Amino acid sequence: MKTIAFFNNKGGVGTTSLVYHLTWMFADHGIKTLVVDLDPQANLTAMFLDEDRLEQLWPDDEHPDTVYGSLRPILRGTGDIAQPHVEMITETLGLIPGDLGLSRFEDKLSDAWLRCHNRDESAFRTMTAFHRLVQRGAEWGAELVLIDVGPNLGAINRSALIASDQVCLPLAPDLFSLQGLKNLGPTLREWRTLWAELLTKAPADLPMPRGAMQPVGYIVMQHGMLDTRPVKAYKR
Ligand SMILES: Nc1ncnc2c1ncn2[C@@H]1O[C@H](COP(=O)(O)OP(=O)(O)OP(=O)(O)O)[C@@H](O)[C@H]1O
Ligand SMILES: [Mg+2]
Repeated sequence: MKTIAFFNNKGGVGTTSLVYHLTWMFADHGIKTLVVDLDPQANLTAMFLDEDRLEQLWPDDEHPDTVYGSLRPILRGTGDIAQPHVEMITETLGLIPGDLGLSRFEDKLSDAWLRCHNRDESAFRTMTAFHRLVQRGAEWGAELVLIDVGPNLGAINRSALIASDQVCLPLAPDLFSLQGLKNLGPTLREWRTLWAELLTKAPADLPMPRGAMQPVGYIVMQHGMLDTRPVKAYKR
């Protein structure tokens, strides 16, 4: 099984749309594909599901069938993740639905990152919750896992990337994306190096993701046209 995250700290470049279409494409080719919505905006989930289903998934009280529901025992400090619900869209396409509540996990993950330095087992469980979510969510035989994340360099994304074998960078051909890349490269390198260091402090009996986050390349969105000319940044 291979896990690929789609990530850019510059937002609005079409990441979620790309993940949506790629998921369908792989699934239509008969590759069992699990797609995981780890962006608290949950736009990907809204693309896959109709309003009636969304209302069922996101009632006023508990959300057992979303990513938040699965992570809740960790957030409350009462135990490990609950078995994630996988919404089967077709026989070859499963979705772990996103949730706005996921943003409440951000502080917990920031804190866990620091506590991992002290060999704290519960901190390692928190840091690797997404990894186990993906592994358990793929138990129906998923061969490929695609992860959509939001546009920032925060703790949720760090943890999502640690759970990923590869990372693909969607880009828009503009100055913002070029600037964004200058932050992204060093940050990914730093996350990978620090996680490798933390792994030496991890409890031996807890399965740990390697945190390879190997970059597999860029996908550049179609350029905008100004007066039938491509914008200058695209030419560059
Ligand atoms: N290839 C494309 N060409 C033109 N418009 C697109 C393309 N892909 C996405 N869009 C539009 O751009 C907007 C942002 O798309 P999307 O939500 O996929 O981006 P995103 O990078 O995931 O955004 P965010 O950073 O908020 O998560 C949407 O209105 C979408 O319909
Ligand atoms: Mg998005």
